[in-house]
Amino acid sequence: MPGKRPSQFVAVLDFGAQYGQLIARRVRDLHVYSEIVPCDIPAAELAAMGPCAVILSGGPASVYADDAPDVDPAMFELGVPVLGFCYGQQIMAARLGGAVGHTDKGEYGPATLVRDGASMLLSDTPQEQTVWMSHRDAVTQVPEGFKVTAHTDTCPVAAMECPRRRLYATQFHPEVRHTDYGNKMLETFLFGICGLEPTWTMDNVVDDLVDGIRAQVGTGRVILALSGGVDSSVVAALVHRAVGDQLTCVFVDHGMLRKGEPELVEEVFRHQFDVPLVHVRAQDRYAAMLAGVTDPEEKRRLIGTEFWKVFFEEATKLDGVRYLAQGTIYPDIIESGARKTGGKASTIKSHHNLIPFPDGVHFDLIEPLDHFFKDEVRALGVTLGLPESMVYRQPFPGPGLAIRIIGEVTPEKLAILKDADAIVREELDAYNARLFEKTGERNSEHSCWQYFAVLPDIRSVGVMGDERTYARPVIVRAVESSDAMTADWAKLPYEVLGRISSRIVGEVPCVNRVAYDVTPKPPATIEWE
Ligand code: XMP
Repeated sequence: MPGKRPSQFVAVLDFGAQYGQLIARRVRDLHVYSEIVPCDIPAAELAAMGPCAVILSGGPASVYADDAPDVDPAMFELGVPVLGFCYGQQIMAARLGGAVGHTDKGEYGPATLVRDGASMLLSDTPQEQTVWMSHRDAVTQVPEGFKVTAHTDTCPVAAMECPRRRLYATQFHPEVRHTDYGNKMLETFLFGICGLEPTWTMDNVVDDLVDGIRAQVGTGRVILALSGGVDSSVVAALVHRAVGDQLTCVFVDHGMLRKGEPELVEEVFRHQFDVPLVHVRAQDRYAAMLAGVTDPEEKRRLIGTEFWKVFFEEATKLDGVRYLAQGTIYPDIIESGARKTGGKASTIKSHHNLIPFPDGVHFDLIEPLDHFFKDEVRALGVTLGLPESMVYRQPFPGPGLAIRIIGEVTPEKLAILKDADAIVREELDAYNARLFEKTGERNSEHSCWQYFAVLPDIRSVGVMGDERTYARPVIVRAVESSDAMTADWAKLPYEVLGRISSRIVGEVPCVNRVAYDVTPKPPATIEWE
């Protein structure tokens, strides 16, 4: 967390939940800052962080299993309200003297919740309502002082609470959209029970981040590797707002960016934001390095290694730079820590050691986005005045077009791919914009999440005019996805595909055929290399 944590902060204790990140997201969507912490953090350590409330996430374990994730029982004595979901309810019951049983029949999916008597947490929700269940174990006996506030057909203790101690819990998942009144319950918890205010807005966040960066940097100089991607662009805008010309951005153009991208970076950062920008034109250097290289992993390795080499050559030319700002975001931190070790009880660590500092070179890191989810980073970008085309840019791999050219990367192939790709993007940007206008959602059903052209290493026969051609095919890839882990090919209208095809063969020299990739991930990947 850069600078100080907001004074109102909700800690989500992660017991390895499938929905852990979602809880933090939902709380933040209600404009209260929330952070995920390992479930076995000592209560005193958490108290020192100053949370206003604690939420215990769900988790796949059974509370009585030998290696079950546990919670410091002093957590329930901190004097701040605690809310448990699923495993969170079970561990609360188990640690406070109640009992948890292994039920024969698990309960997965929607269930009808029936309220039992008065409840603080469930106030303002109907007597009967749909909730989302995902459990086998369940509380069989509530701890002393607790009352059961709801049940379902198969779950006698679907919710329990002890208002005197400000402890609340549900067996179901309020954070999942399928729980009809889940958001209402979270609102009741945060604003009714905890007495918090919805003050965590993007304007306030920008102000806090700017203050934090100023406090950290003082009069020091900062350098940043600008890629044109969302994260590094938002960090650049933020750090520049904080310390102005103390920031220098280094933009390494390796020649494998998409058409128009280097110009956009120049336009936004040099001309609109007036940021000191070093534009390194490294195309020739990269072209020479990649000559004859065909293996995808080798391309990735060479491009990545060369990037840092070029960057540090420039960085060390500047005098008195102490800090390196970079766009690490919250999922990077969570993925590198908690998730990889199974979710529970792991120390969250960042990617610091991934930057290959050359011998004798060191910069202190500034990572102002390290506690923000991707769409929050986009919202910050909008607040900072970055253009939509940058803020809502689709994912683009670091090695760029090199991994969309099968086989050797040559200047001729790059030129073809850039032109074809620009047409795919233009047409599908317009298609997405039409869907956005209709639905009001950016990633609605059937909108394309990522779309681009691929140049395979083959030629095919065609006929143009009266002439036989032996030229290149281009493959169009367009997928629907939300996180790139899985994806499906986009069911584009034929007229959109037809228009892309006729524009590419009509406008891009040396292309005589267009194919559409209709493979989901898995078994394919989104990229071709
Ligand atoms: P795949 O092809 O594995 O891609 O389905 C999943 C997502 O990751 C992006 N991608 C990369 N991003 N460096 C990156 O920064 C890479 O080497 C790389 N390879 C794939 C890809 O564009 C997709 O969004």
